[in-house]
Amino acid sequence: MTLDDKYLAILSSNQRSVKGFRYTVPSSSAYPYQWLWDSCFHSIIYTKFGELDCAKDEIRSLLSAQWENGMIPHMVYWVKSDKHNLQWGTDKNTSSITQPPMIAYAVRRIYEANKDKEFIREVFDRLDKYYRWLHTERSDNYVLSIIHPWESGEDDLVCWDSVYGVENPSREVLRKCKLAILDKYIKSGLDSREFMRKNIFNVKCLMFNSVYLKNLYSMLYLAKVINSAEAKYYENIIPEVERSHKTNLHNKDTGLYSSYYRPGEKHYLSSSEDSSIFLPLFSGILTNSEATKLVNDFLLNNNKFWTKYPIPTVSIDAGSFQPNRYWRGSTWINMNWFICKGLKEYGIREVAETLKDRSLELVKKSGLFEYFNPINGRGLGASNFSWSGLVFDM
Ligand code: GLC
Repeated sequence: MTLDDKYLAILSSNQRSVKGFRYTVPSSSAYPYQWLWDSCFHSIIYTKFGELDCAKDEIRSLLSAQWENGMIPHMVYWVKSDKHNLQWGTDKNTSSITQPPMIAYAVRRIYEANKDKEFIREVFDRLDKYYRWLHTERSDNYVLSIIHPWESGEDDLVCWDSVYGVENPSREVLRKCKLAILDKYIKSGLDSREFMRKNIFNVKCLMFNSVYLKNLYSMLYLAKVINSAEAKYYENIIPEVERSHKTNLHNKDTGLYSSYYRPGEKHYLSSSEDSSIFLPLFSGILTNSEATKLVNDFLLNNNKFWTKYPIPTVSIDAGSFQPNRYWRGSTWINMNWFICKGLKEYGIREVAETLKDRSLELVKKSGLFEYFNPINGRGLGASNFSWSGLVFDM
């Protein structure tokens, strides 16, 4: 069996059909539901392997869970299980928060593979409603807030610690912090505007915003393909979002893009460098010289991110680097995928190829784990983890 075949067998064993919908779980044992950005990654992988019906079904099942107001929830509980059994303040079978908005990009990839406009027509209005909801509900001056760390997809990043006001927290402490925020959000009646005003977790997340910008380009592209009048909306909003990224997400003191939050003053969350600093390569907001500098000074720096099995979520020279911990030092294939795509866009092909080769070497050696130790390559977290198949699309 080739690695591709092995992986396809894993993916199909993680695929589920429920109530006329088909979706893929991140992991049969650890994550038995549907997650938003996971499904977008799964759709991209299915597209890569030419399984376009499966790719479309990931999107259809996600969109079937869209709320009336336009929000697409980050989790859909298609089945009952005792895992991640949380109260979300809603009687729907979904969570009440969202996740990095990768859907338009995934739909664009399907279109690019088959040039069939029908699927775009089928889903466009619902995508449009979602991207407009993000702007209306979450944007201040064209930068979006996340209101819970789970919305970043990078749940336990070290930089969130200072927002909670904790130091060197255990996994258990972090879990309590996250549940407390969720509880307060429910008590605020799931009103994100109101919750943002309370500044409990009002974070302008670099990951979320970079994914948003990249996906606005995809929305404009899709709108033009089907001659939708909504193209105008995207033509108008994109330059505003680009301008705001350059003025707000760019920390002039460090020269790096960074998440920030604000009670009162703007606080950049860059106390320890994490691999989100490379996300602007994916959104395309950097100039060529900024991109080259970022890659030379940080990505290819052996004391920071260029480990044997790159790319650690936290720079290895940071005091907070913990190679085995969830989002606090470990290597994730989706991060490598974002960065690899970005490097290619900037024409930094050699580094992109090396990153791809090292990522393949990692999954060959250890299997398709959820995350990995960046020094010795040990697989960590859930095994047979679906999105790690992004390695085949790098
Ligand atoms: C974890 C990850 C999140 C992912 C989910 C399901 O919570 O941090 O990004 O969506 O698992 O795989």
